[in-house]
Amino acid sequence: MQVCATKAEFRRFLDDTRAAGHTVGLVPTMGALHAGHRSLMDAASAQCDVVALTIFVNPLQFAPTEDLSKYPRPIARDLELAEAAGVGVVFTPTVEEMYPVPTATTVHLDGLTAPMEGAARPTHFDGVTTVVTKLFNIAGPCRAYFGEKDFQQFSIVRRMAADLDQPIEVVPCPIIREADGLAMSSRNIYLSPDDRAAAGVLHRSLRAAGELISQGERRASVVAAQLAADICAEPRAALEYAEVVDPLTLEPCDQLDAGTDVRLIIAARFATTRLLDNLGVQVP
Ligand code: PAJ
Repeated sequence: MQVCATKAEFRRFLDDTRAAGHTVGLVPTMGALHAGHRSLMDAASAQCDVVALTIFVNPLQFAPTEDLSKYPRPIARDLELAEAAGVGVVFTPTVEEMYPVPTATTVHLDGLTAPMEGAARPTHFDGVTTVVTKLFNIAGPCRAYFGEKDFQQFSIVRRMAADLDQPIEVVPCPIIREADGLAMSSRNIYLSPDDRAAAGVLHRSLRAAGELISQGERRASVVAAQLAADICAEPRAALEYAEVVDPLTLEPCDQLDAGTDVRLIIAARFATTRLLDNLGVQVP
């Protein structure tokens, strides 16, 4: 496995890979790798000749009040995990390598970035779309793998690649969960044991809301209210939002029409840790 600290080395490695007739599967991450990230590497490895992993904690997507300085950075363990997953090349730039001068250029999407995470973290998605565009430009033509765990992020990146004709096929990957249903996240380590135990409420509530739809409920407002009430019944959880949205536009649904797909999307805080989760449901 090749480890590249500079953009030039990473670009050259992937240019050579393509010149040799091999396809590239790109997996952008902020490290602190877990089974969720591993599933992206496995999907890339099943569909592409060479897997390219990027590990970069992007300051642009953290607000000044957020956890940038304490974000976990277990780089030696991450490289072992990447090697075990059969990754061909890892890009581990420093902040100075990625942003040698403060960026004067920001990639911004309208619409999809406004609700939910965009409302809670107003500068977050500009940071994500700007760094992901840089990573796409450095890596070159490839498939790029994103987790549905961050469903709004995946939707935004897919739309950005289409709008800007980026030579990238954005591939969604399903959410990987702990035994009690909690979606794996690098931030789960921040949870106290009591909060960790309580956090199972998120997936349980999503499944119960999905059941409600399966049993015939067609009013999105009723489903969203039930989802919110189930989460609020857990005293350790502070609900931020619970939405039933169209999976393409992320606009709130009204009536749930038979045969359509909807996404139930939630965010809740446990002490200072924000957790996200979501569930896709097909209306019967
Ligand atoms: P990070 O939080 O490290 O996540 C990297 C990728 O792993 C994302 O596509 C995310 O959705 C996916 N992922 C995380 N947990 C997952 C789980 N439990 N199941 C499936 N996929 C999971 O998302 C980012 O980094 C950054 O915003 C980034 C895109 C790298 C830009 O900086």
